[in-house]
Amino acid sequence: MTSNLQMEQKVEVKATKFAKRLHQSSRTLFGIAIAGQMLFVYYIVAFYGGIVVTGQYEKVNNQLGHGIVEGDPVGNAMLAIHIFLAAVITFGGPLQFSTALRNRFPVFHRWNGRIYIITAFIISFAGLYMNATRGAHGGFINSMGNFLNASLIMGFSVMAWRTAMQRKFMAHKKWALRAFLMVSGVWFFRIGYGLWLLLTGFSGIGVTSNLTGPFDRFLSFGHSLVPLLILELYFFAKSHPNFQVKKWTSAFLALLCLLLVGGIAVISMIFWLPVLH
Ligand code: HEM
Repeated sequence: MTSNLQMEQKVEVKATKFAKRLHQSSRTLFGIAIAGQMLFVYYIVAFYGGIVVTGQYEKVNNQLGHGIVEGDPVGNAMLAIHIFLAAVITFGGPLQFSTALRNRFPVFHRWNGRIYIITAFIISFAGLYMNATRGAHGGFINSMGNFLNASLIMGFSVMAWRTAMQRKFMAHKKWALRAFLMVSGVWFFRIGYGLWLLLTGFSGIGVTSNLTGPFDRFLSFGHSLVPLLILELYFFAKSHPNFQVKKWTSAFLALLCLLLVGGIAVISMIFWLPVLH
């Protein structure tokens, strides 16, 4: 009887320990992602903001496949709006997940949330417009990947908004996290390449210059679906009573922390920092 009780207590201690570990590893992963996204914001503001200040618009086309297209004022305006709002949404999104900010400034949380959702819709619309009128890098298959990303951004944003209105705050947090990851899809896309370069010893196997290689195809859908699957695994482990599930999931998230640091470092060094000079 006593040993049964002791066993139960042991299991409970372990459950608490691994629940804490899961919480810590998920927070670390989130923190690393935010730091990496701030580097992306820095790149957007410094590079594109610098272009606006100096008037060297030709630099846009050195960086982008399509960029500024002569005779396409609407497409060019869409690109400008898209890039300007990319900085706004990437900077404003993470603020929504700060408990301190939410508790102390609930009105800010509400307004930032509304701005976030509206911005997500405008960015997605502008992206879809450019994809439809100019074509996607990598052709039809990659444009389907972009379409999926845009649909998930808008769908999950609506769910986050609806559940907030219904005051279902547990569900709201989950939908908001899903929406956040989908908005971060474009960032994951870049990190994915950084990580792949690192893992393949900078050979870039499966990647082609026109983005039609097997890895390009995988990433065109993977930049939305892989982060989403990882998030669903985290939700599953968090609510699962078996501490082994929490233990292995937190180990997996710890590994992802290392991979994410690697991906961020490579992409920053190869794509973001060199163009800032
Ligand atoms: C809300 C999340 C999004 C953010 C933060 C974002 C951000 C950006 C940024 C920063 C650029 C400039 C790229 C660079 O300098 O490396 C860009 C370009 C672009 N994005 Fe997005 N984007 C998002 C969603 C989308 C979606 C959903 C689509 C398509 C449906 C899309 C399509 C495009 C296109 C077509 C370009 C221009 C590429 C070129 O001209 O070659 N974006 N985006």
